[in-house]
Amino acid sequence: KNINPTIIVIFGASGDLAKRKLFPAFQNLYLDGRMPKKFQIIALGRAEKTDEEFHNYVLENLNTFSRKAAHEDNDTDKFISHISYLRHDIDKEESYQELNTKLDSIDQAFGIRANRLFYLSIAPSFITTISVYIKKIGLAANVKQDRIIIEKPFGYDKTSAIALNEMLSETFKEEQIYRIDHYLGKETVQNILAFRFGNSMFEPLWSRNFIDFVQITVAEEVGVEERGGFYEGVGALKDMIQNHLLQILCMTAMEAPASLSADDIRNRKADVLKSIRRIKPEEVDHYIVRGQYDAGFIKGNPVAGYRQDKGIAPDSKTETYVAMKIYLDNWRWQGVPFYLRSGKRMQEKQSSIIIQFKPVPHSTFAYGSEGMTPNRLIINIQPAMDIKLQFMTKKPGLSLSLRPAEMVFDYFSCSTMSPEAYETLLADALAGDPTLFMRWDQVEQAWDAIDTIQQVWKSTAPTDFPNYAAGSWGPEAADELLARQGHAWVSNT
Ligand code: BG6
Repeated sequence: KNINPTIIVIFGASGDLAKRKLFPAFQNLYLDGRMPKKFQIIALGRAEKTDEEFHNYVLENLNTFSRKAAHEDNDTDKFISHISYLRHDIDKEESYQELNTKLDSIDQAFGIRANRLFYLSIAPSFITTISVYIKKIGLAANVKQDRIIIEKPFGYDKTSAIALNEMLSETFKEEQIYRIDHYLGKETVQNILAFRFGNSMFEPLWSRNFIDFVQITVAEEVGVEERGGFYEGVGALKDMIQNHLLQILCMTAMEAPASLSADDIRNRKADVLKSIRRIKPEEVDHYIVRGQYDAGFIKGNPVAGYRQDKGIAPDSKTETYVAMKIYLDNWRWQGVPFYLRSGKRMQEKQSSIIIQFKPVPHSTFAYGSEGMTPNRLIINIQPAMDIKLQFMTKKPGLSLSLRPAEMVFDYFSCSTMSPEAYETLLADALAGDPTLFMRWDQVEQAWDAIDTIQQVWKSTAPTDFPNYAAGSWGPEAADELLARQGHAWVSNT
């Protein structure tokens, strides 16, 4: 695509996200010829640094974090020469004046008013200040050309999200605001749409008529690492469920969009969020389980409990695990439970969607030693990237007994290297395509769906924390949540 000349302004350019994800993503896009012909990156940071010092810093990090580390035979040096560093104080007007001068001088050098992409890779508490100054100095006055990318968390509940959005709307129109949920940039998450709406044979089965339940898991082996200070005030419900898991739920449950336009797709996803059954405060314990990890073993190595991790209160009430049962009140999904779970320090890293079909209505077979299992469709998002269809076949031998078998599609069998989520998302933001970003109503609905849970949890402290060992699959209560329904968590292999 022919993209207008663009100036990318990164707030928080010396931070963790920029070094791990943003610079590598821009570098890869550049090496793949996906950056605009004319572009400049203005890296903003608090410290005094020369361009050269910053270039060396970026280079070092590319070598660690980029999928195409700097090689002699690639053009990483050329990419780096497009970056200029500017010292910046978020709360000083002069800093924005200087930025303005810099933007103007680049426009002059380009011989055209370039598009401007502001990336806020900073703590949410700074968003307001930055947005107010951007408006005051008029840095993003061109609605068609100027965009802002905002990281999650977008607010901390529905009320704060509304306030944040109203504040942003004073500077930016909705079409200028790109709210990132990086899961939507993952290849295998986008493949859900391709799989569902590029094939005819699954669609007729994709409803309450044939599906028994759906299970969505996003499990991590890692704990809170260096992010304790941040995570303590957030917890798994807000960090993972409100955004990543609900977005995966949308992709799994949405109706077919009328077209692939951004709004057609986002309308259908918003419908899913609206149809999530809202629960009453007294029902929270019935539908949702929270957990916090204790010390344990990950792949045989001992790890500390959450309360012993850096930056965590010794009596912390923050949940590192959530399992919940969701019902969608619409025609397609009436009565089908969607079980969502996400946790840190789980047995293995795994993001997957499992569609379990109803058991056969009547079986005449003598079962093999493995027993009869229901048909399942397993969509592995990461680290395995595959789709499996599990079904029963005849067990070889004289008797007519059964055994499970499967058909597997491995995403890598047709592609060796897939782009990182941030590459996809940044390419889209540069091109002005908001399809994979969260529209305001999606964010609002997602908060609305979990606000009651937050409120109840705030007023009733958990009495059993820590309640799961690191390296396990979470608290026992999460098994009971499914057992009540005659279901059980299903393995993705
Ligand atoms: C982030 C969360 O949004 O997603 C982190 O804030 C989490 O806590 C991360 O570790 C997981 O992302 P990924 O791409 O590694 O699955």
